[in-house]
Amino acid sequence: MTSPRYKRVLLKLSGEALAGDNKFGLDTDTVNIIANQIKEISLMGVQIAIVVGGGNFWRGRTSAGMDKATADYMGMTATVINGLALQDALENAGVSTRLQTAIEMKQIAEPYIRRKAIRHLEKNRIVIFAAGTGNPFFTTDTAASLRAAEIEAEVILLAKNVDAVYDKDPATDVTAKKFESLTYIEVLKLGLKVMDLTAVSLCMENKIPIKVFGLKNPENIKKVILGEEIGTTIKE
Ligand code: GTP
Repeated sequence: MTSPRYKRVLLKLSGEALAGDNKFGLDTDTVNIIANQIKEISLMGVQIAIVVGGGNFWRGRTSAGMDKATADYMGMTATVINGLALQDALENAGVSTRLQTAIEMKQIAEPYIRRKAIRHLEKNRIVIFAAGTGNPFFTTDTAASLRAAEIEAEVILLAKNVDAVYDKDPATDVTAKKFESLTYIEVLKLGLKVMDLTAVSLCMENKIPIKVFGLKNPENIKKVILGEEIGTTIKE
């Protein structure tokens, strides 16, 4: 059997990825399929931390007229709902997990403590990070970059609805060109909307490669872990 390319990874799951075709809320079957894929790579000995988004419940940026910080805090609580759902699905699949939140809600989950998170990973527990960075004006992509740097993950696996990075939106433009690899600077210069600028800059400063791929086929997580070149790689 091919051995995994990485020892410790940070998987960023968007909220939409958990909604399935419904586009809103949680689709139990979808969540279970993803959980089982994550279980498979965990059984290969890969240490996995997950940052979950919350866009399947709430999007801070589309809340016109609302105070931006308030809208962002609402988004952070949405990620906690997703974190709990993912934890539940993973534990039903027989995987040991710990959920940590960037904003304390001790009755529900552990608070984020970097050293504790690393210890959990070393014990092969999957650690789910919820509530983003705990601060408004930062995205969950930035939370992914930040946590990846903190736990010294070798790579960020950016699981998306689209299968790679394109120069234009492939859903609306058939001439959209797919990138197999990009540098951080190219992403910034071309203004590609794969991650926000803060998130990309943080990865660039800390030299964390980003693998962007589609989650339509949940097997893709395993493919990337095993070193198959799918989607787009962003690195130096
Ligand atoms: P070890 O130190 O390796 O034994 O880790 P552990 O996570 O098993 O130890 P701990 O006693 O800290 O946690 C036991 C259980 O309680 C785990 O399921 C934790 O997620 C949970 N837990 C720990 N701290 C908190 C907290 O502040 N709030 C909540 N809600 N759960 C917590």
